Amino acid sequence: MVSAISRSPAQSWWDPEFAAVAASMTPRAPHTLLEHPYTSDELVSDEALVETFDLHRDTLECNVMGTDLTREDEWSYVDVQSASSAEVLQAVHDGRLWVNVVGVKDGPWGRVAGELRDLVQQSVDVPLQRTSLNLVISSPTAMVYYHSDPNHTLLIHTRGHKRIWVYPALDSEIVDRNVLQNVFGGQVEELPYRPEFDERAACFDLTPGAAVAWSTTAPHRVENVSGLNVSASFNFWTSNVERMRSVMAADRYLRRTWHVRIPGRFDAPVRSTAARALARVGRRLRPEPPIPRLADAPPTWVLDPSVPSGARPTQ
Ligand SMILES: [Fe+2]
Repeated sequence: MVSAISRSPAQSWWDPEFAAVAASMTPRAPHTLLEHPYTSDELVSDEALVETFDLHRDTLECNVMGTDLTREDEWSYVDVQSASSAEVLQAVHDGRLWVNVVGVKDGPWGRVAGELRDLVQQSVDVPLQRTSLNLVISSPTAMVYYHSDPNHTLLIHTRGHKRIWVYPALDSEIVDRNVLQNVFGGQVEELPYRPEFDERAACFDLTPGAAVAWSTTAPHRVENVSGLNVSASFNFWTSNVERMRSVMAADRYLRRTWHVRIPGRFDAPVRSTAARALARVGRRLRPEPPIPRLADAPPTWVLDPSVPSGARPTQ
């Protein structure tokens, strides 16, 4: 395990180097550790979290996970519809769960989402296509499996203590290109994990006030160390990320539907233009069937504060 704990100067917690990484289509420096000011009780107290849950019940997701890092199939969505926001938070305190408030727009965290959008837009020299702030609240012993996201990420840690491993982006020895195409297709986020991958990772201990940024496709995983953990994941898509997504979607379509693989680096200008043009023509002849998405799967667990994990299977 490679340790890479450092801090940027407190007067400027946004690292301009990351802006350059975020603006590039194929990032090679995948992560950086920063400081941030978002740790007030107004944002992270139990009362504030319950209020944020109440304001976003329609996009509140709850999950349960196993204990084996290599069994990413053991996590599942948890039905919390019949529980109050206070009961959900108490179950996260006592059990082994994590809650994801997707696309926070209202309340104090909604204001933070706007501030981060302005800050990041001022820092990158390409237009932001989309941004989203997800508030993640997790139990003291929870973990997040090794996975990759189709967006750049700025993770703001505000409560509790967690450890995060960030792995190199676009390293084909640790993430197969076909799997990455599925990540961009929204079909899967979890990736096959092997402990030896950790030798290539940067490992960060996050306490309140620390933030980590990494580029799209950089795999990462989390283990909580102590306390209720509260982090905000600010996700953003530059025009370059959207271009990357469309090239990967074209490659995936050509591979699955026509059994065609175009040689060369996927992001080389001539190759990526050719792939997208071929896919455009191909889709007119043979449309791509809909891709099943993770988020569409119904919950198979239900919140149950009477069991140690805080949830039980519905059947
Ligand atoms: Fe992630």
